[in-house]
Amino acid sequence: MKIALTTLLCFFCLATFSGARADMQLEISMKHITRAYKQLLLDLKQPQDANKADYVALATTMKTEAQTARGLVPQKAANLYPESRDAMVKGYQKSMDDFSQAIDVLIENLQAGQWDAANKQLATLRMEEDDGHKAFRKKD
Ligand code: HEM
Repeated sequence: MKIALTTLLCFFCLATFSGARADMQLEISMKHITRAYKQLLLDLKQPQDANKADYVALATTMKTEAQTARGLVPQKAANLYPESRDAMVKGYQKSMDDFSQAIDVLIENLQAGQWDAANKQLATLRMEEDDGHKAFRKKD
């Protein structure tokens, strides 16, 4: 009996824990995007040709995390009826694809050492962030 209860408790803990983790993956990707974005914003205030590879690496981190985020579902979807949820998830995936493509442009700018263009592209990404959050982020 004691063993059965302990096993049940373990399953309960596991289910709760993995549920919380699945929910948080998108937030974790967003945190990684934020860290790389902020660093790049700072670095590109006084860009150095010698540090080009570091800048490209930061933008590549953003791209990888955007691709991970694309495969996840925003928490906001949980409160919607199935039809609206499907439409919302499709819209989210399209926005995330556009965001990824905009990061590709940033990577090209960085590789070419076109710092003005790269700074402009960072501003574009910022606008896409605002739009993405307005449309797909749950209000607290
Ligand atoms: C430079 C670009 C971006 C930055 C710096 C950024 C940053 C963040 C941050 C800091 C959070 C909060 C994470 C937390 O609660 O711990 C967040 C959440 C979120 N972001 Fe972004 N974001 C960006 C672009 C985008 C884009 C393009 C989309 C949609 C296409 C998006 C969709 C979301 C969603 C849906 C959440 C809520 C997380 C959830 O539902 O689990 N973000 N983002």
